[in-house]
Amino acid sequence: MAPKALITGITGQDGSYLTEWLLGRGYEVHGVVRRTSSLERSRLGHLYADPSVYGRTLHLHYADLDDPTTLRRVLVRVGPDEVYHLAGQSHVGLSFDIPESTCEMTAMGTLRLLEMIRDLPKPPRLFHAGSSEMFGRPAVAPQDEHTPFQPVSPYGTAKAFAAQMVRIYREAHGLYAVNGILYNHESPRRGENFVTRKICRAAATIREGRQRDLALGDTSALRDWGDARDYVRGMWLSLQQEIPRDYLFASGVLHSVQDVVEVAFASVGLDWRHHVRQDPRFLRPAEPSNLVGNPARARELLGWTPEISFERLITEMTRAELTGARVSGA
Ligand code: GDD
Repeated sequence: MAPKALITGITGQDGSYLTEWLLGRGYEVHGVVRRTSSLERSRLGHLYADPSVYGRTLHLHYADLDDPTTLRRVLVRVGPDEVYHLAGQSHVGLSFDIPESTCEMTAMGTLRLLEMIRDLPKPPRLFHAGSSEMFGRPAVAPQDEHTPFQPVSPYGTAKAFAAQMVRIYREAHGLYAVNGILYNHESPRRGENFVTRKICRAAATIREGRQRDLALGDTSALRDWGDARDYVRGMWLSLQQEIPRDYLFASGVLHSVQDVVEVAFASVGLDWRHHVRQDPRFLRPAEPSNLVGNPARARELLGWTPEISFERLITEMTRAELTGARVSGA
């Protein structure tokens, strides 16, 4: 029988790539979608429209992380072997404006899911998408799975709570539950309010004469950026091991927002100096620092290495924004 996976946050960037990855490996994939999600034009649109996939190997269920009855029902009906928990309010800047709902969804939503899984007669393996934001301003760089959490945003705090609960349920209740400590990962499917997509999109639109300039926050901010397609492979690998452990997924290399600007604008033949300005509206009340990961454990135990470089990623993301390049599911 085909293995069954259940994904929360299936309509997001990672959820859509993970769905393709799992379908390609013969899984029956079930996704949890919120009633507000529009599927036709979502990142899953191409799979949803394919009658050989949707309703056969891909199934979607309406449920919500803040509506435990619905989620429990889906878990019981589907009886998954693996659960990938990717859902949550994922914008760090926004979490300063909506801290309560961020914590409700990300922190309490994860705890509720752990409680439900613990009650199942045959608990599935659980992957929880943690974040480098949990480290905040760490004293050591690069970080690894032993670095203490010191979050500096409501989002990072909610993720740290959720990740610690995952560890507790693994150790105290014997669940096969794993945290992926995921550093920034991007793709042409990235949400439009994250900085890489915002820059790549603007570079393409300015190139085509449909926009004049681009307003950004702190362009000196440094991040460890990778490609989402590499990271979903890591998620899957981390559930295929004999012993459940946390894994850190990162490129190990720091780049600034300014580097993204330069690669994106150069890839469409523009000089960024004529178009980019700073706007204090996009500055955050607090920024993490020093966030660069050491993925040695993932490399040694999972055989995981990132395959797509920063330059290739940003160039691909920018070109995908040019008119005519955007294809369904890109
Ligand atoms: N969004 C945004 N918009 N960010 C900007 C802007 C802007 O106009 N200008 C500068 N930045 C800076 C932010 O202040 C931050 O330092 C950096 O660009 C990256 O911002 P985001 O792309 O919004 O990502 P993030 O690092 O805050 O969070 C992402 O990565 C985390 C993993 O470290 C998200 O994907 C999180 O969900 C994820 O956990």
